[in-house]
Formats: sequence, structure tokens, C-alpha cells
Amino acid sequence: MGTTQLTSQAVRAQYERHPYPGHVPLVAIPAPAEELRFDSVTPGAPPTVLVAGCGTFEPLVVARSNPRGKIVAVDLSQRSLRRLRWRVLLARVVWALLPHRLLQQLLGRGLGSITPVQGDLNDRTLFAAERFDAIVCTGVLHHCADPGAVLENLARWLKPGGALRVMVYAPTSRRTIYDVQATFRAAGVSPERFSSHRALLVACRSVLRQLPFEERRRLSVAFEGYRDIHTFSGLVDGFFHAHDVAIPLDVLVSRAAQAGLVLSHLGRRTQEAIELDAPVEQQLVRLIGIDARQHLPVNPVLVFRRAEALAQAPALRRAA
Ligand SMILES: C[S@@+](CC[C@H](N)C(=O)[O-])C[C@H]1O[C@@H](n2cnc3c(N)ncnc32)[C@H](O)[C@@H]1O
Repeated sequence: MGTTQLTSQAVRAQYERHPYPGHVPLVAIPAPAEELRFDSVTPGAPPTVLVAGCGTFEPLVVARSNPRGKIVAVDLSQRSLRRLRWRVLLARVVWALLPHRLLQQLLGRGLGSITPVQGDLNDRTLFAAERFDAIVCTGVLHHCADPGAVLENLARWLKPGGALRVMVYAPTSRRTIYDVQATFRAAGVSPERFSSHRALLVACRSVLRQLPFEERRRLSVAFEGYRDIHTFSGLVDGFFHAHDVAIPLDVLVSRAAQAGLVLSHLGRRTQEAIELDAPVEQQLVRLIGIDARQHLPVNPVLVFRRAEALAQAPALRRAA
């Protein structure tokens, strides 16, 4: 078995045990997010959107943001998809019971359709070429053994002119988190040995308490400030991941370009974090600079457009 398959297997095992996110209640109707609203490449048609590495909740947000949308939600983890199916069912029941439902439907603010699919983003045969108007891939590429190969697949599944919205870890700004991970590894803390979130959290804090003062302060601030430590799945996701390798942003953009994906703009919060209103190339330079100083306060979001002719991309020509 190759590295890619072994990684997928280990990552899948983690999310079968700990579906993510864990902090959202089972009954939840999220608000629409403007950034996740997509148009179809074909004028007038409903948008087809792939949520790649969807977890248990994100497709609901995408469906709320695209009430006419046809959303396909793919994940390695069957258990995550089962939880997603429950959420969708319960959200539809609650939606149906809303007294102002008719009004909301008239205003076109319902819930797009969601089709869950179990699969691996490394499998290029998972979807037909040029099937989707947009793809959302949040917090997934850094968990893949070969992010470039996954980007090639995403580009292949996008229609020409379609949008790919990617969130990845800030590579340098996350360094302290990687230091915390290494500290837990060296101390032999492993989530499999703990049956409850509480017990794992206590063990983590106890390891940090034993560090010399300066190191304890540096790592504890990063650990306690990490929002996800408050659930079992979030704690495992942040600090005990089966494969967590941040991708340098210049490498990400150049691998995307090889796959035929052109950087279009940065996500709203990312744009706010760099405080620069300029052509996207300059924004990228600023983004990389801020991250290099470990000062990026957000996980960057980058939006790409698929070039018209994918055949231009050398990596894809090889694969075809
Ligand atoms: C950190 S979670 C993010 C979930 C969701 N995107 C969100 O932001 O809430 C990563 C998800 O990606 C999935 N994943 C990781 N690698 C994958 C792959 N190669 N193919 C399909 N899904 C994958 C995991 O199973 C997990 O549910």
C-alpha cells in the first residue's frame, strides 16, 4: 500500500472515532454565509457545489447559502456522513415547522439539496470531469499525503470558470501548535489511551505544567487559546492528528497553478487580516510575509478559478 493510501486510512480511522466538528449541536440551522454563495457557470441554472472533506456540518452551511444549490458532500468517514445525514434530516424538520416558512420559501431562503458520498479525494474517478460549479475545501489539504494530486482532482471536477475555495493552516503561524503536538508526542500522550475528552485534556495540561517556566507559558497560551480543545474531536484534530502537515502558501499557489487553478482573491477575513487592498499577487506576498513573522491570526482562505483549458496544465496532461 502506498503512502497516499496509508495516510487516507489513518486519517479515516481518526475521523471514524472522532467525527469533526464536535461542538455543533445536532439540531442546528446555520445562517447563510455570503462567502459560500456560488453562481452557476451556466446562467440561470442552480449551482452544483462539492464540499470536499465535508465533516459533519459544513454542507448545511453551504446548503443554507445556496437555497437552489445541488450540494454533494464527500468525506472519508462514514460516521461523519451519518452524523451529517441526521443533521440534514433534523434541520429539514425544524425548517418545515417554522411558521414563516412560506415567506422564507418565497424569498428563496430554504436549504439546497445535500447528497452525502463516501470517498477519497485522491481518487480521480470519484466524480466526472467538469461536474461542479464550485468546490469548498476547508481544513482538508494539510491532512492529505499529496495535496498537489488532490488539487489536480479538484481542478478536474470543476467546470471551466468554476471556483475553488480552500482553507489551509497558516504554515508558520501554526508553529507553536506543532511544538505543543511534539511535546505531547514526546510525553507519550495518545488519545487512544483515554476514554473521555476530560481525561485527555487533564493529561495534556499535566504535561504542559511540567515544562520549564518560559516554555510552559509559551505552549500553554497557544494550547488554551485553541478553540477546538473544548471537544474530544477538536482536541484530537488539533493536537493528535494522524497527518497534519502545513503547506507553504507559495507552494500551494504554485501547485494550484500547475493544476490549472488561478488565484482569484482571498477570503474576507484573510483579506481583513492583511489590511491591503491591492492586486491579488501583492496580497499574496503580504500574506506570506505576515505568516513568516508568525503573525497571521487566521487560517488563510484562498479562492481560485479554474482556467478554461485544463489541457495547458502539465501535471494534468500527464494524468490524462
Ligand atoms: C478538519 S475536518 C474539516 C471538516 C469540514 N471541512 C469543516 O471545515 O468543518 C477534515 C475532514 O476532511 C476529511 N478528509 C481528510 N482527508 C480526506 C480525503 N483524502 N478524502 C475525503 N475526505 C477527507 C476528514 O475525514 C474530515 O472529516
